[in-house]
Amino acid sequence: MRNGSTLLADFILMAASKPLAALDGDPMAVEALLRDVFGIVIDEAIRKGTSASEKVCEWKEPEELKQLLDLELQSQGESQEQILERCRAVIHYSVKTGHPRFFNQLFSGLDPHALAGRIITESLNTSQYTYEIAPVFVLMEEEVLKKLRALVGWNAGDGVFCPGGSISNMYAMNLARYQRYPDCKQRGLRALPPLALFTSKECHYSISKGAAFLGLGTDSVRVVKADERGKMIPEDLERQISLAEAEGSVPFLVSATSGTTVLGAFDPLDALADVCQRHRLWLHVDAAWGGSVLLSRTHRHLLDGIQRADSVAWNPHKLLGAGLQCSALLLRDTSNLLKRCHGSQASYLFQQDKFYDVALDTGDKVVQCGRRVDCLKLWLMWKAQGGQGLEQRVDRAFALTRYLVEEIKAREGFELVMEPEFVNVCFWFVPPSLRGKKESPDYSQKLSQVAPVLKERMVKKGSMMIGYQPHGTRANFFRMVLANPTLVKADIDFLLCELESLGQDL
Ligand SMILES: *Cc1c(COP(=O)(O)O)cnc(C)c1O
Ligand SMILES: *[C@@H]1O[C@H](CO)[C@@H](O)[C@H](O)[C@H]1NC(C)=O
Repeated sequence: MRNGSTLLADFILMAASKPLAALDGDPMAVEALLRDVFGIVIDEAIRKGTSASEKVCEWKEPEELKQLLDLELQSQGESQEQILERCRAVIHYSVKTGHPRFFNQLFSGLDPHALAGRIITESLNTSQYTYEIAPVFVLMEEEVLKKLRALVGWNAGDGVFCPGGSISNMYAMNLARYQRYPDCKQRGLRALPPLALFTSKECHYSISKGAAFLGLGTDSVRVVKADERGKMIPEDLERQISLAEAEGSVPFLVSATSGTTVLGAFDPLDALADVCQRHRLWLHVDAAWGGSVLLSRTHRHLLDGIQRADSVAWNPHKLLGAGLQCSALLLRDTSNLLKRCHGSQASYLFQQDKFYDVALDTGDKVVQCGRRVDCLKLWLMWKAQGGQGLEQRVDRAFALTRYLVEEIKAREGFELVMEPEFVNVCFWFVPPSLRGKKESPDYSQKLSQVAPVLKERMVKKGSMMIGYQPHGTRANFFRMVLANPTLVKADIDFLLCELESLGQDL
């Protein structure tokens, strides 16, 4: 029950002739604020954020950063000036992923058209679930997915944009299971025998996360051997399938990877598709990283056989630079599997007696309710670049990779882990004190300490960011990713010189 004094307070609030503070209902002030914020974004995040003469990151220890940002939320609102200062600080202390020295992730760079798409998406603040509230984006998403499917080699099918490749992979697992055992939608795990899915040891970690999340359990993930280049070995897949069957499990899915996370390897899809066909297994291709190679007529042979997959996960936010997040799940299915598997026909949202074609309401394809618009950034960028412009980006990344590889081979102190197949270049920086000492017993152990030290130095200096990792028995090495379309040879030269200078005393 509400008491008298809250009722009085409500009355006073409603009766006030002035709008609430903090701009609610004052169009002039809203506009002025946003113009100022856009000005700051253009200066700080875009001009400085992509300039090689500025730092890529501004490292602070967490406690100091907390102080600097003054994070605590107060009961009193602040002035516009203070708010603008806060916007500047947020950008200043954030990592500039569009910077030409940001090589840390499988994405880098700042495409202005994709950014324009993201700004429009944010401003319209709509949800993708019904044609009613997202007419433009429902039609646009369908068109973009159709284009991506055509590149896979399908002239029909289905699909949906997901919040990232990990979720796209989980959807594929759920769809494969549902197709085989439709009963499990209602009866859950009780409807299922013990299941087995197969992926290589080089796969993305989202496969085992997905198995846990979907109730399959991580034990149901059978790890197939990869060759020395990181590609799944089809003969071992055969062997693992027989083993799983002998142990009483029912194989249902193979998840191949096109563009593995560390080595950038492409699994042999045609050979894997043969195995899947023989055993009637769902073939999923995790092409979150490598899918964009389909745009290149020169390099798309790396994904030969992908048209034989049942589902494909592809992140245009990685190599194509569409901006986080943009991840498509593509399906060969034409039987409405997505909606049958995930739908629940909420009658308040998806009324069947609407005045338009209710097939356009895509909300029941997914397990989310509200869903962000992820198609516009890719669509606008594609309109501006054309398929040809995007193809050039991919080809250029491959060409720069060649340049980096040749430089690594030519310079003292650098050693390739292996010839790259894609645009991940894995290499060691061998500091002066370790050169020529490969035979000494603690070489590997000492080498593994180099990358973490150099990483700390580069981040604290703000000069660049590159990822490193161990891999199998290999000591920590750097993984350079050439994803930023604005990179030139000089940026590569900088990277190598900077490593030399950061590591000369080691
Ligand atoms: C990046 C990546 C993923 C995960 O994608 P998110 O969008 O980060 O969830 C899955 N698989 C591969 C091969 C990837 O490279
Ligand atoms: C966006 O929509 C949500 C409701 O989904 C609403 O609460 C919010 O105020 C809107 N924000 C903007 C910036 O329009």
